Amino acid sequence: MIAITLSGVAGRMGVAIGRAVATSDDIRVAGALGPPNRPYTGHDLGEQLGTGTQGIVIEGNVGSVLQPGRTWVEFSTPKASIAHAEQVSDMGLPLLIGTTGFTDSQVEVIRKYSEHIPCLVGSNMSLGANLLFLLTEYAARLVDADADIEIIESHHRFKRDAPSGTAKDLTESILRGRRQVYKAVYGRAPSSGPRTNREIGIHSIRAGDISGEHTVLFGSIGERIELTHRVQSVDTFAHGTLHAIRFLQDRPAGLYTMMDVIRSTMNVSTD
Ligand SMILES: NC(=O)c1ccc[n+]([C@@H]2O[C@H](COP(=O)([O-])OP(=O)(O)OC[C@H]3O[C@@H](n4cnc5c(N)ncnc54)[C@H](OP(=O)(O)O)[C@@H]3O)[C@@H](O)[C@H]2O)c1
Repeated sequence: MIAITLSGVAGRMGVAIGRAVATSDDIRVAGALGPPNRPYTGHDLGEQLGTGTQGIVIEGNVGSVLQPGRTWVEFSTPKASIAHAEQVSDMGLPLLIGTTGFTDSQVEVIRKYSEHIPCLVGSNMSLGANLLFLLTEYAARLVDADADIEIIESHHRFKRDAPSGTAKDLTESILRGRRQVYKAVYGRAPSSGPRTNREIGIHSIRAGDISGEHTVLFGSIGERIELTHRVQSVDTFAHGTLHAIRFLQDRPAGLYTMMDVIRSTMNVSTD
């Protein structure tokens, strides 16, 4: 049985992962963490998940849940994730980070920790979205070099970061496929002026309860290609997270992505 500590347990992702784990045969939540002094700290995890009593108290203090033998699963905020990652690294535990919105220097800090522990960072835990990264790279290689490239991402109104981590990773997929320098242009204002050739437009929509949609559009004169991935609910991310937790067991130190999970669990060649 794989034991995990779930950080950000009361959030949308924390609840979805907690519920998915409750129905799995091989993973259990051994520690649950929220920020200090929340109404739900000190209460049983099952109350938060609506699954009935689990005998696990939601803690507000990292020290209470930082235990050997557990995989740390983090879906909270960038600041909290970086602080927890340091302690998890010091203890030598496997670390899965699903939080998005890191700065470049925070990404570098995580990369440093991954020299000591197995660490998987995924901007999008859905298996399909990770296939979209591959399809986007391939399309960027094939589609006419003059085609205009735009990314449109849509999420629920509560999402804190923009553009999404997935949109940023899609930009990387395009750059790998194109092997050219492009400028990222975030949205367009009246002052933006006409589009130039070497830019990738990135547009963020925040509305209602949209779970997550990403479209990569290649627009030429007379035709366009659109690659779209839609997530129907956060349960899809939770499902991918469980795959990633299993993947991390007994891995050597290193920085892993969902692409490694896909290679190992779906028998898909990503070369
Ligand atoms: N990788 C993926 O596939 C994926 C999918 C969806 C979302 N995400 C990302 O995952 C993160 C969480 O998403 P979400 O939708 O679940 O957000 P959310 O509903 O806002 O949940 C975040 C949770 O983190 C808690 N938190 C804040 N500081 C903490 C700390 N110091 N220790 C422990 N918990 C802390 C918050 O508690 P309070 O609310 O009580 O402050 C909240 O319950 C975001 O960065 C989001 O972009 C990733």
